[in-house]
Formats: sequence, C-alpha cells, structure tokens
Amino acid sequence: MGLQHSIAQWSLVLLLLCLGLADAHTIITYPGYRGNNLHTNGTIQAANGLGVAYDPKNGTLMYPYGMEWIYPCGGMPTSTNRTKWPVRGGAIAVQPGWFQGHQTALFYVNIGLGATPLNMSHPVVSPFQITGPSNNPYPGTFCLPQVPLPANITVVPGDLATIQVVETAKHGAALYNCVDIEFAAVNDPEIQEVTRHNCFNSTDLSFQYMYTTSGIGSGANMLQLPTRSTMALLPLLLAIGFGALM
Ligand SMILES: *[C@@H]1O[C@H](CO)[C@@H](O)[C@H](O)[C@H]1NC(C)=O
Ligand SMILES: *[C@@H]1O[C@H](CO)[C@@H](O)[C@H](O)[C@H]1NC(C)=O
Ligand SMILES: *[C@@H]1O[C@H](CO)[C@@H](O)[C@H](O)[C@H]1NC(C)=O
Ligand SMILES: *[C@@H]1O[C@H](CO)[C@@H](O)[C@H](O)[C@H]1NC(C)=O
Ligand SMILES: *[C@@H]1O[C@H](CO)[C@@H](O)[C@H](O)[C@H]1NC(C)=O
Ligand SMILES: *[C@@H]1O[C@H](CO)[C@@H](O)[C@H](O)[C@H]1NC(C)=O
Repeated sequence: MGLQHSIAQWSLVLLLLCLGLADAHTIITYPGYRGNNLHTNGTIQAANGLGVAYDPKNGTLMYPYGMEWIYPCGGMPTSTNRTKWPVRGGAIAVQPGWFQGHQTALFYVNIGLGATPLNMSHPVVSPFQITGPSNNPYPGTFCLPQVPLPANITVVPGDLATIQVVETAKHGAALYNCVDIEFAAVNDPEIQEVTRHNCFNSTDLSFQYMYTTSGIGSGANMLQLPTRSTMALLPLLLAIGFGALM
C-alpha cells in the first residue's frame, strides 16, 4: 500500500474519530463537563429579548438564544459528579466548532476555587485564538495537554474547583462551559488517562497568539503555540500511532 494511500485512509479514520466525538454533545471533551447545555428553547418574543427568562406557562426557564451564552457556565448549575484533575494542573480538550460564527474564535480558560466558586477570575492560560475550517459548524478538537494552575495558587488533593472555558465568536458573543473538578494526587488512578483519543489537535484547526507578553492577569503562563507546519505533522504522527495499534 502506497504511503499516499495509507495517509488518506488514516485521515478518514481521524475524521470519523472527530465526528464520533462530536456525537457526544460536549464542548469540553476532557476532563468532562457539567452536562449537555446545547439547548435553545422558548421564543425571543416570549422572553422579550432576554437571554434567559421565566416561562409562566410551565414554570421553567427558557433560553431563546441558547443556554451556552449564559455566564458563567452556560446555564448549568454546579454539578455533583466531579471529575478528578491533578493538583499540578492537567489536560483540557475542547470542541470549538459546535455553532456558526467560529471560523476564528478567542479562547479563555479560567478557574474558580471552591465548591461553588464566587468568581472565575483566575486565568490559567493566556487568551489565544484558533482558526477553524469554516464559519459553519465543524468537527474537531484541540487539546492543551498541561494547563497549569494560576501563579501563587496551591491546592491539595480534595480541594474543589471549577474550570471555565469561554469561546467568543467573530462578533464577540461569548459561550460558556464548565467542568467541576476535585483536585487529586498526580498518580491518583481515578484521574482519567490522557490519550491521543480523548486529547488531540485536529489538523484543520490552527492557533494564533493574541499578544506576545508574559504575565497576563494573575500570572498566566504563555502556551507554546506551534507553527502551521508542526500542526500539519500531527495527523502523520497519529496515523503512525494508530498503525501501531492495529
Ligand atoms: C455529569 O452528569 C451529567 C448528567 O448525567 C453528564 O452529562 C456529564 O457528562 C457528567 N459529567 C462528568 C464530568 O461526569
Ligand atoms: C414548556 O412548554 C413548552 C411549550 O410552551 C414546551 O415546548 C416544553 O416542552 C415545556 N417544557 C417542560 C419542561 O415541560
Ligand atoms: C428549556 O430547556 C431547559 C434545558 O433543557 C429546560 O430546563 C427548560 O425546562 C426548558 N424550558 C422550556 C420552557 O421548555
Ligand atoms: C475571587 O475569588 C477568590 C476566592 O476564590 C478571592 O480570593 C478573590 O478575591 C476573588 N476575586 C475577585 C475579583 O472577586
Ligand atoms: C506571587 O507571590 C509573590 C510573593 O508574594 C509576588 O512577589 C508575586 O508578584 C506574585 N505573583 C503573582 C503573579 O501574583
Ligand atoms: C495543540 O496545540 C496547542 C497550541 O499550539 C499546543 O499547546 C498543544 O500542546 C497541542 N496539543 C497536543 C496534544 O499536541
């Protein structure tokens, strides 16, 4: 089998993998999320233009523009099913292409401390921009394998926190997603293993720096953002990885 052919075949596997993940209805694919908030209901007229409004007919809230746009966690309350995450920080993987308008998107990743955080004011990475394949919804994920804790914040196993991922569209509207975590020792077997299946960069996403200064906010670390050419290498590396599995 020619190299060209096998690369094409593995690209298909990768695409299916991306589409498979997209079926999971989640924005934060690792370490998890509060729950499915991909809901839009009620009408803009009934809500009189509010993003979230009480529906007197059946006594529930309606989200005529979509739940995800509600600060701080896309309309989801604190969950009881927490995920364990390492005390020294760990991986975060995101599917950025669920909605229209994200051919370019700015990302912010913050942490809020405590069982129900008073604020999400601790950035853990500097804001960055991604470029996707289309302004329409698209599959694929990006993965930050080692997101650190904010400078000067130390935690011990058992401490609780919430990770918030904010994604802005071209026009600036932001959508919000959270995962509730419990910090755990680095070698805790209950921490979900990070693999190339649950944490990877899709080839059709690329990254840009927003600004090139260190020490933004509360000492957030600058990520090492790759050039387009290192991104292009990934499918080949993944293909080799998959090849080894077969
Ligand atoms: C928590 O429970 C919700 C609802 O069952 C589920 O959708 C979500 O994936 C769970 N999150 C984690 C981190 O286990
Ligand atoms: C609330 O009412 C709307 C129609 O007004 C209906 O579509 C929706 O399913 C109801 N939701 C619940 C939770 O009963
Ligand atoms: C709108 O969707 C939310 C989330 O699924 C649900 O809790 C709520 O009951 C729905 N509201 C109406 C009016 O259907
Ligand atoms: C945010 O909450 C933390 C506690 O988690 C607190 O120390 C800090 O002062 C708060 N920051 C703001 C800006 O309210
Ligand atoms: C961390 O704490 C040290 C010592 O108190 C201080 O000098 C430094 O400015 C702090 N860094 C940040 C980013 O807050
Ligand atoms: C994905 O790209 C980001 C940004 O360049 C990089 O920091 C990260 O390490 C990459 N993830 C993987 C799994 O290689």
